[in-house]
Amino acid sequence: MSLKIDIVRCLSDNYAYIIYDTYSKNVGVVDPSEFDKINTFLEKKYNKLDFIINTHHHADHIGGNSELKKKFNSKIVAYSGDTYRINDVDIKVNNNEIFHFGKTKFKVLKIPGHTSGHISFYSSEEKVIFTGDTLFSFGCGRIFEGSYLEMFNSLKKIKSLPKDTKIYFGHEYTVNNINFCLSFDQKNIFLNKKLEEIKSNLKNNIFSTPSILEDELKGNLFLKANNPAEFKKYRELKDSF
Ligand SMILES: [Fe+2]
Repeated sequence: MSLKIDIVRCLSDNYAYIIYDTYSKNVGVVDPSEFDKINTFLEKKYNKLDFIINTHHHADHIGGNSELKKKFNSKIVAYSGDTYRINDVDIKVNNNEIFHFGKTKFKVLKIPGHTSGHISFYSSEEKVIFTGDTLFSFGCGRIFEGSYLEMFNSLKKIKSLPKDTKIYFGHEYTVNNINFCLSFDQKNIFLNKKLEEIKSNLKNNIFSTPSILEDELKGNLFLKANNPAEFKKYRELKDSF
């Protein structure tokens, strides 16, 4: 195991992740929403930033890119098809390619639906995946650019990973997401317990990220949907929940 991950809460409910490869001493950030919070963290801990890694082009995931790149001379890693809307990309990646972050190998998995060029970064050795705004804890992202079928298939890809994979997601929506899942199954013991646990953790500034895939498979309605039609029904209801 050579990867260390720190969580930085940004904007109102975003998560950015500072990653560190103990072997190469590479430092990266996944989805820097804003410059200040990431910069403050980096100045205290590593004082360098080799890679800026983006899951998708939305402003709340790339907002810190240019200032961070300028200050630390970092390389931006993003999907090759999104270079028209993510500026100054140095390392263009594609589906199923490996991005070498020091000793840590990240497989790029393309997971369209929230946006057409959404990607995730998965390390099988480290058992972690950065899912951006595709899979949240007990929820999933809104469908802005893709179809319901695309999003269903993207979630299916994530579902097939080992159950002990840690899910590092893009937003703290977990309480609302669990409440939505509970609205279909109010007496669900697992979900009720999770809700209490997460509420009390959040009060003590303990984040709900990362989640574990096993828990998501147990309680996340969007992963439990058996077919695209069922998935579409849940997603539409959640849009106005
Ligand atoms: Fe997004």
